[in-house]
Amino acid sequence: MDASKIMFRDGLLADETILVTGGGTGLGREMAEGFLKLGATVHICGRREGKLQETAEELKALHGGTITGHGCDIRDPEAIDAMLDTIWQKGALTGLVNNAAGNFISRTEDLSINGFNAIADIVFRGTFYMTHNVGKRLIAEKRRGNFLSILTTWVWNGSAFTVPSAMSKAGINAMTQSLATEWARYGLRFNAIAPGLFPTKGMSARLAPQGRGDNSQSNSNPMGRHGEMHELVNLAAFLMGPGAEYVNGQTIAIDGAGYQANAGNFWQALSPLGDEQWQQMRDLIKASNQQDKSERTA
Ligand code: HXC
Repeated sequence: MDASKIMFRDGLLADETILVTGGGTGLGREMAEGFLKLGATVHICGRREGKLQETAEELKALHGGTITGHGCDIRDPEAIDAMLDTIWQKGALTGLVNNAAGNFISRTEDLSINGFNAIADIVFRGTFYMTHNVGKRLIAEKRRGNFLSILTTWVWNGSAFTVPSAMSKAGINAMTQSLATEWARYGLRFNAIAPGLFPTKGMSARLAPQGRGDNSQSNSNPMGRHGEMHELVNLAAFLMGPGAEYVNGQTIAIDGAGYQANAGNFWQALSPLGDEQWQQMRDLIKASNQQDKSERTA
């Protein structure tokens, strides 16, 4: 990210302590960087402890401040509880960014139950476990809190070939709207961002394994480009910062109007593919999954 394009004053988030799930890489890392630059105390978690420590050190070297990496698989409620105990010893969170996700393109008829669960356990269940645990702590301690989930525009229209992700993220959209009302009385607010294409390594490996996704999708975007990371980070900082408290229960798209132009999903691009192409993509995706798995500690 080009940090000079952050649109807020230094120190905006000085009173905030924010946990970004999946913060070691991709969009999570970018948001963690933005929050750190704006003065927040930042925690990042994920399954690859080494990657998290590396990211924490790199971001600290760039911006100073306090950022801590935690190995934690959000599919495991006990691991979440242990991580939050550790965080709370240093100070309560004021914000949670539900960014961790899992996804891969597949014809739905090719999915096994394990394949469905691999995604639903992270996105649907894991996001709830995190939100529920942090929410209960804040309610018990009578503290305010701010929750942001990273969704997609598929929560409004579904997405062929990424059905477990579309279903799970739609569930988190419903959680956002539901808790925005139920927990407002505790001073907790809930919003979500639905990003269009912001290319990251993890996403490209699973959604465009043959390198076909980025430019072809950018060309069909009305703005003729994909998103720039600072644009996403500015929206996240606005939603996580002080001064926008009355924004509650919203899912805000940032996609250059891709959703309006081409539904923002995979139906058109992937419908023509045949057996052989799907097999090739499955092999490429599984090789990336194996590579990631070999780096995991949590
Ligand atoms: C069919 C597949 C498959 C594929 C995995 N599986 N890849 N099935 N096609 N391409 C099946 C496996 O065969 C196995 O089922 C089951 O899924 C679990 O596989 P594991 O590799 O053991 O799973 P796990 O280690 O838990 O990894 C979870 C994961 C992985 C979701 C599969 O991709 C992951 O960890 N991803 C995290 C990062 C990520 O996905 N980032 C991109 C997010 S993009 P069997 O039956 O064989 O046991 C995003 C939205 C983007 O979220 C929006 C853009 C607009």
